[in-house]
Amino acid sequence: MKDNIVPHNYQISKNDRRQRNNHNSFLLWFTGLSGSGKSTIANVVEQKLYQKGIKTYSLDGDNIRNGINNDLSFSPKDRTENIRRIAEVSNLMIDAGLVTLAAFVSPYKKDRDNIRTIVKDVNFVEVYVNTSIEECERRDVKGLYKKARAGEIKNMTGISAPYEAPENPDIEIKTEEESVEAAAQRIVDFITLKLKLNDE
Ligand code: ADX
Repeated sequence: MKDNIVPHNYQISKNDRRQRNNHNSFLLWFTGLSGSGKSTIANVVEQKLYQKGIKTYSLDGDNIRNGINNDLSFSPKDRTENIRRIAEVSNLMIDAGLVTLAAFVSPYKKDRDNIRTIVKDVNFVEVYVNTSIEECERRDVKGLYKKARAGEIKNMTGISAPYEAPENPDIEIKTEEESVEAAAQRIVDFITLKLKLNDE
């Protein structure tokens, strides 16, 4: 089938859209355990970017799994497919000229490497929200850890399924030591140069 698909070249390019927005577009990928604070921090980063006039869009595990990915479970195979689809959607958003924020547990290193390949290294910023399993379980905002301990949820990351921590993330946030506000500001500072258009 793929043999019969011929991509059409549209006249307005990613670079045109970036120029029009007057900023670069790329993906800020937040990885970490459930309840680590990924969405909370991404939310504050997006507000800060919005206030600067940056065009953004946020993709979030719990929301996406209710919609486009509502056919996927938490098996390793389905998590891989979950992340692959999000990476492809992110790639479209980068093409649309948006700074895209994505908050997904994304526990497997090979899946995160695949995102990097799909959106290209230069467009990928990996943010590791490093909160210990003990702290996530203590917070248990959604009550999922309690259910996992009771055996009501299988494949729970950190309890009965693995989390492969990034070895060399662009930014690491230890939420037990740093406030949401400070972490979000650090991320915004980190990407300030990257937001600038280079003369392409
Ligand atoms: S991922 O592993 O495929 O990247 P994703 O980020 O989409 O996961 O979804 C994680 C969210 O689903 C968690 O924040 C949590 O609310 C919920 N969830 C439900 N069951 C599980 C589970 N078994 N493991 C992890 N998260 C789960």
